[in-house]
Amino acid sequence: VSRAAELLPLLSALGRTPVSGQTLARKLHLSRTAVWKQIHELKAAGLPITTLSRRGYVLEGMPDFSLAALRFAGAIESWARPHYELSAVSTQVLAKQAALGGIPEGHFWVSELQTGGRGRLERVWSSGFGGLWFSLVLRPQVPPARAASIGLVAALTLSRAIEKVSGIPARLKWPNDVLVATRPKGFKKVAGFLTEMSGEVDKTDWVVLGVGLNVFNELPEELRGIAAALGDFNTKKSGAWTRGDLLAEFLKEFYAAYRVWQRTGFLLFRDAYWHQYSKPNQPCVLKTAGGELRGIACSVDASGALVLEVRRQKKTVLEGEIVL
Ligand code: BTN
Repeated sequence: VSRAAELLPLLSALGRTPVSGQTLARKLHLSRTAVWKQIHELKAAGLPITTLSRRGYVLEGMPDFSLAALRFAGAIESWARPHYELSAVSTQVLAKQAALGGIPEGHFWVSELQTGGRGRLERVWSSGFGGLWFSLVLRPQVPPARAASIGLVAALTLSRAIEKVSGIPARLKWPNDVLVATRPKGFKKVAGFLTEMSGEVDKTDWVVLGVGLNVFNELPEELRGIAAALGDFNTKKSGAWTRGDLLAEFLKEFYAAYRVWQRTGFLLFRDAYWHQYSKPNQPCVLKTAGGELRGIACSVDASGALVLEVRRQKKTVLEGEIVL
């Protein structure tokens, strides 16, 4: 059972300046013991709260509680059904369980933080407080062989939503990573997608689209060379948008694209995808299950496969990922 609804008022009352237990108790009409217990629970769930002796409690991180508000708002499309958590092992697990249980498409799970976030290829996905971590259940009426390119459509949609909401130009890396250009040169990853599915040869039962976007979360030291968070970049719009804005814009754009994609496949998105591509027609290294391939990234084909030129020969690659 989610405790989010009960704990959220206390969490949202915290900020970067210390608030005493007494003030919190008064504000929230709780006893001081109840405040203390809830703080304890929030800390145990992994929320970055520090206790300063005699001064009170501090939230170490951006106090952006816009995700919780999506539960009530008309801020999101009517087809989307949010489930909000303060902490989850992985939203992917929650969404997959529900998909297996027959839940209709449009339900999604979003969590302030994940304690066991997973990336592609069984990697760990760092999912601290302040990021945008969610998993959306889809039931596309396409055969599984065609379903894989939904990840590319989703990455394209997210890159557009990021640009529109935050003003930060976002680029793509095959198959479905979203990058931001860094100075003096190069790119860092801000978002990735984990697409998991189940079905029969000719019928897809469900797809769970897991989205991880670094927004205001702190990245561990070892990732800082290759990954970044949107909050690290300054634009005219800095400070004027929330994670809720990003999520709402993504859902809106994604659903429109998803409907087109179901009817026509990836072809109609191919040019737009390539237009947003981070390093078109440049040398790259592709990691596949069968080893590394070096070549020039020439294009993506109508199915979303990468076209790579290796020693003057065009090769179509369906699996793997470009190394940053
Ligand atoms: C990647 O490796 O690039 C994909 C990362 C996907 C992370 C998201 S965060 C929400 C959902 N829950 C998870 O455990 N993973 C996905």
